[in-house]
Amino acid sequence: MKSTTDTFGKAPHQPSLWTRADALKVHADDPTTTQPLVSADFPVLSDKVFIWDTMPLRDLDGNITSVDGWSVIFTLTADRHPNDPQYLDQNGNYDITRDWNDRHGRAKMYYWFSRTGKDWKLGGRVMAEGVSPTAREWAGTPILLNEQGEIDLYYTAVTPGATIVKVRGRVVTTEHGVSLVGFEKVKPLFEADGKMYQTEAQNAFWGFRDPWPFRDPKDGKLYMLFEGNVAGERGSHKVGKAEIGDVPPGHEDVGNSRYQTACVGIAVARDEDGDDWEMLPPLLTAVGVNDQTERPHFVFQDGKYYLFTISHTFTYADGVTGPDGVYGFVADSLFGPYVPLNGSGLVLGNPSSQPFQTYSHCVMPNGLVTSFIDSVPAGEDGKQMRIGGTEAPTVGIKIKGQQTFVVAEYDYGFIPPMLDVTLK
Ligand code: FRU
Repeated sequence: MKSTTDTFGKAPHQPSLWTRADALKVHADDPTTTQPLVSADFPVLSDKVFIWDTMPLRDLDGNITSVDGWSVIFTLTADRHPNDPQYLDQNGNYDITRDWNDRHGRAKMYYWFSRTGKDWKLGGRVMAEGVSPTAREWAGTPILLNEQGEIDLYYTAVTPGATIVKVRGRVVTTEHGVSLVGFEKVKPLFEADGKMYQTEAQNAFWGFRDPWPFRDPKDGKLYMLFEGNVAGERGSHKVGKAEIGDVPPGHEDVGNSRYQTACVGIAVARDEDGDDWEMLPPLLTAVGVNDQTERPHFVFQDGKYYLFTISHTFTYADGVTGPDGVYGFVADSLFGPYVPLNGSGLVLGNPSSQPFQTYSHCVMPNGLVTSFIDSVPAGEDGKQMRIGGTEAPTVGIKIKGQQTFVVAEYDYGFIPPMLDVTLK
């Protein structure tokens, strides 16, 4: 990879590698890294809309923030179509699975509010129709900027292309609820460059999305994580000694794993407001291991950088596998080197009996992990699937050095604030 020097003249870092040897240590169903079973009788947040990726309002330091006692979350959201002829099956019944699977193409950003950090009330769409420049409003991060209630929503504008964008608005509270105002002018920030981060022209299955801005607790500067793939034409990547790692005899064959090229990207802001960004080389690459490291985010704890990212079974490369869930890596400084938590990287995976029960986990600095319910086996024989499109039970994990442990389970969609801001 071609390295660059960043705006501040620092020596470029080397990306840390999630190797095939690390991934061989991933084991589903270890109780310390497995999400408790989600029961098929879960409640749904709304019978009008599906929700999936959940983005709690927070500050630039990562603290989940309420305003005037109101918690606020943003969600990727799509209408449910129980009466749309397009989603009826041959027998005239609603084909919810097809409706759910189609949701990415019509994803919109919505917000919800709550006094209790659960029992969310629907606020509505964040941006009016026509404000966002593309068909899909994909994941990102809402940042509370100040006591005036200003919010920068960073997100991904997808189809055509994939651009990291931001839009500014304001949160307004009353005794009865929360509304969002503004969010009218979307500013494009950057796209994949083809030198560090793969472009659509290099690979039609490229990923470039999910901005997560933050202030580095050590140097105080503004950075942003995002999901990417390592630049280069599809099929041209090399899975060499470094990517393979220290594997036992018999595990040298990498098959077609050159097609899996996920990375966690990082950019640094050239200005205070985060309007002008420079992409830096990835923090972490998974070439030969996995094709998607989605929604990367940090927890800063004990002076360390805990980097979390979500990934799927279906995006693993030949010869390695693991559950859908959240994976993690830890370093003593922002630019690494990062080592996989629990040896393997796996932090919280779905149990093998319910491999699709949850996804899009977000580890919060208080050790609480939120996710959404995808689908859970249901019916007497367990052969039906109940589609979720709603908040999963929150899980508590303990982060200790290079290890993590599942220690608690809470209510559906429990996202308590870590601090409250009184608006002026
Ligand atoms: C994770 C994800 C994100 C993306 C969104 C699209 O669930 O794949 O990476 O922004 O969903 O719906």
